[in-house]
Amino acid sequence: MNITAADIGQMDYNELIGLVRETNRPPGGLRSISAVARHAHLSAASTVLDVGTSTGITAVELARIVGCRVTAIDINAHSLAEGRRRAQQAGVENLISFEQRDVLDSGLPEDAFDLVFCGNVTSLLGDKERGLAEYTRLTKSGGFLGAIPMYYVDSPSGDLIARVSAAIDVPIEPLYRDFWLDFFTSPQRNLFLAQDYRFDHIADDVVDDFVDQILSRPHLAELDSGAVAALESRYREFMHLFQENLACMGFTVMLLRKEATGAEPELFTATRVG
Ligand SMILES: C[S@@+](CC[C@H](N)C(=O)[O-])C[C@H]1O[C@@H](n2cnc3c(N)ncnc32)[C@H](O)[C@@H]1O
Repeated sequence: MNITAADIGQMDYNELIGLVRETNRPPGGLRSISAVARHAHLSAASTVLDVGTSTGITAVELARIVGCRVTAIDINAHSLAEGRRRAQQAGVENLISFEQRDVLDSGLPEDAFDLVFCGNVTSLLGDKERGLAEYTRLTKSGGFLGAIPMYYVDSPSGDLIARVSAAIDVPIEPLYRDFWLDFFTSPQRNLFLAQDYRFDHIADDVVDDFVDQILSRPHLAELDSGAVAALESRYREFMHLFQENLACMGFTVMLLRKEATGAEPELFTATRVG
């Protein structure tokens, strides 16, 4: 690996996780993926679009647990290559098509998927409304849109927002739960599931142990000692920043059903209390 300490000093978080091969999960990880699969009634006959698949965790898991066909798209070719490697390792490469596409202009046919899953990708899109219109266009009537947006539960300081924005190289505007519920829900997108979670507070030593474990991956042994030291310091710094940020945040596992003619009016709705 021909990567210097100076190269690592220039990398943002997304580039660094590509280097260390950290898995980029949707919020709630495999448990959220399992809830989406169950509540969307997926079967081996279903077709799924995984938007912003990154290294493919959702695509691989759905192919493994359901046996459905998945089209997994991302703008990042390096992440897609790692996704293909992981699909092969899991023995599900025949069920997944990894494609480099921008969801804002996907070129995919309309009404094509039983589930369009966009995890926590929408907050990263320059034009969220356009992204939502495209997710809806691609979903079959009677099919589901799955989203797991993250949001602030406690107001963050301006300084925290600035540091996280710089780390992920995307300007962040602090958004809250109500914003996302309003954003996704419409007569055409009928809210079927909204499970709320709050991120746990993770202790400093747990973060440090995780970083040590990731940095001991065999492929990183090829780096020279200067690059290893730079990687260790930068990656640890990012993880402690996210530890601080996520302690103020939560997420909602949402499923919305696409209704061809708009949802029937419903007067006596109910909210789960336990
Ligand atoms: C936070 S990761 C997603 C992790 C996980 N798959 C999830 O569902 O939350 C965001 C991914 O979205 C990709 N992405 C960002 N903008 C995109 C776009 N316009 N079209 C497709 N993928 C995009 C990024 O390259 C990145 O891999």
